[in-house]
Formats: sequence, C-alpha cells, structure tokens
Amino acid sequence: MDIGVYQRRRARLVAAMRGGVAIVPTAPERARNRDSHYPFRFDSYFYYLTGFREPEAVLVIVAGASPKSILFCCDKDPEREVWDGFRYGPEAARSACGMDEAHSITKLDALMPDLIADRGILYCHLGADAAWDARVLGWVNQVRSRARSGVAAPGEIGDVHALLDEMRLIKGPEELAVMRRAAAIAAGAHRRAMRAARPGRAEYEIEAELLHEFRRHGAQAPAYPPIVAAGERACVLHYVSNDGTLKDGELLLIDAGCELDGYASDVTRTFPVNGRFSGPQREIYQLVLAAQAAAIAAVKPGNAWDAPHRTAVRVLAQGLIDLRLLAGSVNEAVETEAYRKFYMHRTGHWLGLDVHDAGDYKHAGEWRVLEPGMVLTVEPGCYLRAGEGVPEHFAGIGVRIEDDVLVTGAGSEVLTAAAPKSIADIEALVGAGDA
Ligand code: GLY
Ligand code: MN
Ligand code: MN
Repeated sequence: MDIGVYQRRRARLVAAMRGGVAIVPTAPERARNRDSHYPFRFDSYFYYLTGFREPEAVLVIVAGASPKSILFCCDKDPEREVWDGFRYGPEAARSACGMDEAHSITKLDALMPDLIADRGILYCHLGADAAWDARVLGWVNQVRSRARSGVAAPGEIGDVHALLDEMRLIKGPEELAVMRRAAAIAAGAHRRAMRAARPGRAEYEIEAELLHEFRRHGAQAPAYPPIVAAGERACVLHYVSNDGTLKDGELLLIDAGCELDGYASDVTRTFPVNGRFSGPQREIYQLVLAAQAAAIAAVKPGNAWDAPHRTAVRVLAQGLIDLRLLAGSVNEAVETEAYRKFYMHRTGHWLGLDVHDAGDYKHAGEWRVLEPGMVLTVEPGCYLRAGEGVPEHFAGIGVRIEDDVLVTGAGSEVLTAAAPKSIADIEALVGAGDA
C-alpha cells in the first residue's frame, strides 16, 4: 500500500486524540522452545498505522498544533543482518513509512518521558502485557517526579484501540483489494482440497493441499489453524489435530483461510469424501445452505448486525422441525433456544486484519447497523452428534458453510464466491484430481 494510506490513518487518529499522545507498539516476539521462536506477526493496530512489518518497533503519535509521527525501530546492524536478513534502520524506515521522525528502539526509555510530558491525555492499550504496562507507567512516573520543574504528567489515560476500532471496521478500497485477493486464494485452496479428497486419505494430506495453495499464491500464513474434520469430528467446533482418515460415506468439513499482507480470509466448506451426498447428508446440507443464503440476503446497509443471525436461526429451526429433530413451532424453538443443541455458535464476526476483527457489535445496548465497507463472515452450521436423540441416519453429520461478505451500498458482495457450495458444483469437483 502506498504510504499516503497510513499517513491519512494517522491524521484521522490525531484528529480524535484531543491533543494527546498515543503509543502503539508492535507485537512482542515469542519463544516457542529453546532458540526457536513462533513466526513473528506484527500487531494489527501498529500495522494499520504504519505498514511496518519488523519486530521491536513502537509508533508514537503526538497530536496538538504540530502533530508528529515518530517510529522507534531496530538499528541497522550488518552483523545481525547476516543472520536475520535486511532491516531498515531508523533513517530508511522514516522515509519508507512517511514518518516525521525515527529513532533507535534503544532510545525509547530515554525519549518517552519528554514525549508524554504536558500532553494531557496518554492513549495506549493497557492490560495486554504486564511488562509493557509497567514500562509505560514508569514513563508516566518519571514525568510526575519532575512536577516541581513545571512539567505535567498525563492526567488521563485513554484506550488507543477504542479510537482505532471504528476506523478499522470500515474498510477502504486499498484494504478491500487485499481482502479480495486473500478471499480468492482461500477459495482456490478449497477447490484444490475438494479435488484432492477421496476415501483413505488423511485429513493432514488435505491440510497440506490447503497450505500449499495459500503459500504458492504469496499468502504469508494461514489466518488461523485450519480445521479439516471428517465424519463426526466435524461436530467438534475447534478440531485442529487433523490426523484422522477420510472414510467412504463421510462428509469432510474444512474451515481454512489465509492471511495475505496482514488481512484474513475465513472460509468453510463441507462436502462428501466420495463425491456423492447421501440422502440424509443432502437434507442437512441443503438446510444449512438455505440458512446461509437467507442470512446473506439479510446483509445490507441499514439492517442490524444480528439480522443475518436471526434469519439463519429461523431457517434452521424450521428445517430441524421439518426433519423431526426438534418439536414445536419455530417461535418456540427460537424463544427457548432449543435449536442451540444443534447450532450453538453465532452466524458471523467482523473480518479484517484479525480473523475476529476489531469493532463493536452493539452501541448503547443495541445491535449496530450495517454500513458499506464493513466485512463480516456468514457461517451457519448444523451439528448432529450421535446420541442426544439424533436418529441414526443423521448421527455424526456436521455441516458449516462460511463466506466472507462485504456490505456494499446496494446490499452485499460475497468475496469468497469462487469456492463451490451448490450440491451440483461440489459433486462435480470432489475427487476430480489435479486441475
Ligand atoms: N475460523 C474461525 C471462525 O470461523 O470464526
Ligand atoms: Mn469465521
Ligand atoms: Mn472459519
């Protein structure tokens, strides 16, 4: 993205900061085990404001009459760069990111007290990392200890995430361009998984197809641990071991999306391992597909956030009654939440830099209203665990269908439409082998 995008975001933040100062660090590096780290992933808020991907970096924004963006980052270090690769260093990072100033991260403790002095309000995000909180409060205390020299410590602490969440919720054109590509890569990965599936293969072999497809198109990582769950394991909502075998006659549920340049896709498809839905599988699949279509139709500007969920629940409840899996009327099933035995999660979440993205779902106790530029998932499901009064022909069937949906001026756009989901399209593709 061009640096103007990040500069405009920082300017919008400044306008909301009432003359204060904001501190936004990137994520810490985390050890996995001896001498080995988890792959580094920048902090989403920091990245939203900088586009800077290196570890050990902090953004400081000073608002007021002459606002300034200041980046602290690692120094150039030819010896370390032999081991770890290129790093910008403050001077090159300053121009690459369009900052007003940049300094070595080693100067952070020395410079921060002066940067926060006399600013009134300090925006940061406390509570995520105790060591970081202590460091920030240490800078505040240093300023307090200088009160007699006439400098004032921040009298108020605000949550910088709260200011950024609303900005992140409405995606700009440059973000949507990346999200469309992340969605297209994920859709391609699901097509490839369908082609590769057949009885006797291991779930992890299908997972490998997904990961290969993500990476060969430039996605840096999966957006979350992929779920590849055959048969009754599809009813385990967070199944991630992916070490079972695909059996003839089972369904395979795959929940997998990629992260491309920071942005997530999040897609679920469910299909028969042998390429043909059985009668009972077809009935449950059609029901979930109908619930999803109705929920997607409820995604439009002016509708409440929970309109898609309420819509999906009613369609599912009616279908479960028709299939004699629930008794009584739809209104009763909804009021008593009897449907939750088979549909226990909600129908979606915001999507963006985080899979479960930033942004409130309610305002003053009311579900918020959908607006163009919001991106959400629509992901109804139905999980029929054996026992629990489920007739044998339905036992062990778990279905979820999940797409990424952009709210547009006219209604919505399904970003992941290239992943097949009609019964005919799925049956034509499953087991077809290499493209
Ligand atoms: N894959 C995470 C979710 O569907 O929310
Ligand atoms: Mn999701
Ligand atoms: Mn998902």
